[in-house]
Order: sequence, then C-alpha cells, then structure tokens
Amino acid sequence: MGKERQICNLALVGFMGTGKSTVGRMVARELHFDFLDTDALIESRLRQSIQSIFAQKGETWFREYERGLVAELARYENTVFATGGGLAANPVNLASLKQHALVVCLWASPETIWQRVRRHTYRPLLQVPNPQLAIRQLLSNRVPYYRQADVLISTGLRSPKQVVQQVIHQFRLARDQHAPHESSDPPVRP
Ligand code: S3P
Repeated sequence: MGKERQICNLALVGFMGTGKSTVGRMVARELHFDFLDTDALIESRLRQSIQSIFAQKGETWFREYERGLVAELARYENTVFATGGGLAANPVNLASLKQHALVVCLWASPETIWQRVRRHTYRPLLQVPNPQLAIRQLLSNRVPYYRQADVLISTGLRSPKQVVQQVIHQFRLARDQHAPHESSDPPVRP
C-alpha cells in the first residue's frame, strides 16, 4: 500500500499558456511559500534553454530528466510548484506529486491558449507549421491526465487574481481535510 498523502505543497499543472508560473508566484507570495518553476530549474541546472534542450537532446531525454526532477520534489515543503505543460501527462509524475502536494490544474480552451502563446517563440512544441492544430491535438491527448488533478480551475474568464483566490481557497480546504484531527477527549482505555 502507498504512503498516506501529506498535503504540504501545491502543484500547478496544465497546458502551456494557462498561467501556471504567473499564478504560482502570486499564490506563493500570499501563502508565504517558496516558489519553484520546474522548467526554470531545469534550465538553470543544465545552463541551457528548454528550446535548446529539445533541439539537442530531444523530447524523450527531456521527459526523463523532468521525471527525475519530479521525484526530487517529494523532499520539499511549503512550496508552490509551477510545472511544465507536459509534466502531468505522465501518470508516474502525477502520482508522485499527489503524495505531497495538492495538484491543481489550470485550464483554458485551445482558442484562449493560442491567443496567449501566439507571440512566444520559446516553446519548442509550438514551433511547427500549424501551431493551432498542435495545441488542439496535444490538449486532447492530455485531457485524460489533466482531469486527474485534484482540482480543475478554468482560467478563461478569470483574472490572474481571481484564479489565485480560487487556488488558495481549494488549498486551504484540502489542507483542513487532510490535517491530522486533534481530539480533546481522553484516550479510550479497554
Ligand atoms: C511543454 C511545456 C513547456 C515546457 C516544454 C514542454 C509541454 O512548459 O515544459 O516546452 O509539453 O507542454 P510551459 O507549460 O511552462 O510552457
């Protein structure tokens, strides 16, 4: 049997352009938590951009590195993680995050995502002839995984501040539910 769940961190998962890093930083500030962006950590450890990692080492290599990093996250406490868009599309990563974090998926429609990412050139998976099609295909492949998050928050019609409030509300609820219950009753003796 697996270990009992300890919700001491918060992990934001979801597609590119759903606001994980922006919202994550704001949530961390409000909760007085640390903030860790998995892509930024990978880039600083390898001293290489995600784009150049994909170009030189390939996506499979990147996914394996990402998986190793997720295993390390279990050692953190009081930290908000913003994860790369494909990280939660691996059931091993999702299961690992759920052991120590509330997993919150930020959601947006393919159209909204496209509007948010269209001017960015640093996302390797969208440097293709038809990025809008790539978004739709990737998103539909990943929906079954994103749905397994503890909480799904739609970001399309919400400001980042409203999303932050929702995330914090859900986190506090989950923490209360998982907190060890204290009882004022004396222990029952046989
Ligand atoms: C990816 C999303 C990116 C980054 C890499 C792959 C994906 O992160 O990890 O380009 O597979 O969706 P963001 O979601 O932060 O853009």
